[in-house]
Amino acid sequence: MTRTGWAETTARNLLKAPLPRRWAHTQGVAATARTLAGILGDDADLLISAAWLHDIGYSPALAATGFHPLDGARYLRDTEHAGELLCRLVAHHSCAINGAADLASDLLTEFPPPPGHLADALTYCDMTTGPDGQTMTIDQRIAEIITRYGPGHLVSRAITTSAPDLTAAVSRVAHLLSAQPVTQSTR
Ligand SMILES: [Fe+2]
Repeated sequence: MTRTGWAETTARNLLKAPLPRRWAHTQGVAATARTLAGILGDDADLLISAAWLHDIGYSPALAATGFHPLDGARYLRDTEHAGELLCRLVAHHSCAINGAADLASDLLTEFPPPPGHLADALTYCDMTTGPDGQTMTIDQRIAEIITRYGPGHLVSRAITTSAPDLTAAVSRVAHLLSAQPVTQSTR
């Protein structure tokens, strides 16, 4: 099985039945990841796999600390024996450190932050995909998260803290996408 096929199957097994809305979001994030293949080159396969797996930490089958980036990354490392960079991408997806609270040092010690261009790409996929898998702007996505959790919630506070970095990451990726040469069709 390919890595992306394994990642999709793993995510489906963990999310589809208990968390169908999270599964719909995950499918949308993976679909967006596929659109970045042209700017990621050899990293495209890794990024698509990370997109499938980024939210598995929400699955009741593996949730331990309740902080889904860390729970997901630990599951990938300890149970799936996934590659180090894939685990680091899941651990730090979408500026996770800003919501880590007491688990921040565990997160950083166990999973060093991934390279910036890959973190940007995963942020782009996650933060331009809504909770049902629909495409959204970064501003719509941030507003949606705050509305869904409520303004006082830890997640809402974390996303507010992260908003400038998330927005900058999405802008960098959008710029790279817009700079891609347009493929000419030939007759
Ligand atoms: Fe997500």
